[in-house]
Amino acid sequence: MSGGDKLDFEIRPNPQPVAAAERATLLTNPGFGRIFTDHMVTIRYAEGKGWYDARVEARGPIPMDPATAVLHYAQEIFEGLKAYRAADGGVTLFRPDANAARFVESAKRMAMAPLPPQAFLDSLRHLIEIDREWIPDTEGGSLYLRPFMYGSEVFLGVRPATEYLYVLIASPVESYFSGGVKPLTVWVSPDYTRAAPGGTGAAKCGGNYATSLIAKAEAVAQGCDDVVFLDAVQRRYVDEMSGMNVFFRYADDTLVTPPLGTILPGITRESVMKLASESGLTVAERPVSFDEWRADAASGRLREVFACGTAAVITPIGQVRFPDGEFTIGDGEAGETTMRIRQTLVDIQRGRGADPHGWVHRVL
Ligand code: COI
Repeated sequence: MSGGDKLDFEIRPNPQPVAAAERATLLTNPGFGRIFTDHMVTIRYAEGKGWYDARVEARGPIPMDPATAVLHYAQEIFEGLKAYRAADGGVTLFRPDANAARFVESAKRMAMAPLPPQAFLDSLRHLIEIDREWIPDTEGGSLYLRPFMYGSEVFLGVRPATEYLYVLIASPVESYFSGGVKPLTVWVSPDYTRAAPGGTGAAKCGGNYATSLIAKAEAVAQGCDDVVFLDAVQRRYVDEMSGMNVFFRYADDTLVTPPLGTILPGITRESVMKLASESGLTVAERPVSFDEWRADAASGRLREVFACGTAAVITPIGQVRFPDGEFTIGDGEAGETTMRIRQTLVDIQRGRGADPHGWVHRVL
């Protein structure tokens, strides 16, 4: 297969799917990323052969040789997107083409073979079709889709692998943060950075998340929900959180978010920028220093701060902690603008709001 060619998927239904009653019990409180559907998709790649052996099969362990490249040099990328149950029983996805395109960009940065977007999109449709009963029908529920790909060649030399395995799994989810949309307390990491210019910050590779773990653990030890990284060069400017982009809403109705470069080009981030600007806010991408953040929160010029991402949707930030103290954003509660943008976004995602940009893709 090459370019936009279509792959044929072999469908091998799981002979022992989870029973309907057990599935219903699991779906009553799925949390985030704890339970999984009956199937997965796999597609293989080999240099000189291209993409082949596309399958939908029972979800299960992947046998791995101990010398598999990814285990040594972390050549791995992933995506995250959600399938929603529409009011008429159909199933929709939000901007899956953007995830497919970013998956290609991440692959290029990590010197991996890019999966053609058509194969990415077809894999989503096949998995949703076979596991559609796993999509929660609650207001906050969705089926989180996790496409990922890694260097599967058995080889210890340091060079790009010549073989890759693409895998798609799915997990019914509710809220990413256990408190739902209640305002977060965040920890500004004094010691750790996430990505430097020229590094992999803009790629959705597992390594970026691995580096965030110690800082997030420190945040939790400080009684916080998540960590905010500052830039790696000057250690002054807000970068992003462990898995979310950040927005600042000022009293003059400007909405500011850090510029692209070392941060993930979030699809939710881009959607929020568009929705905010259409709702009359002035949107700007510019660096925001920690000093400025603190001073503007104190003066009241800064009214609201929120985090956004596929998993987190839009989650307000109420409290900011750092080694020398802490400060509150506004009255510490969820801001009106934050919740309004959130509602507009969620209504589009769930098929209730007008969709002038054609972001919602009907799958079934
Ligand atoms: C997502 O929002 O989908 C992500 O991949 C972030 C991860 C922290 C769950």
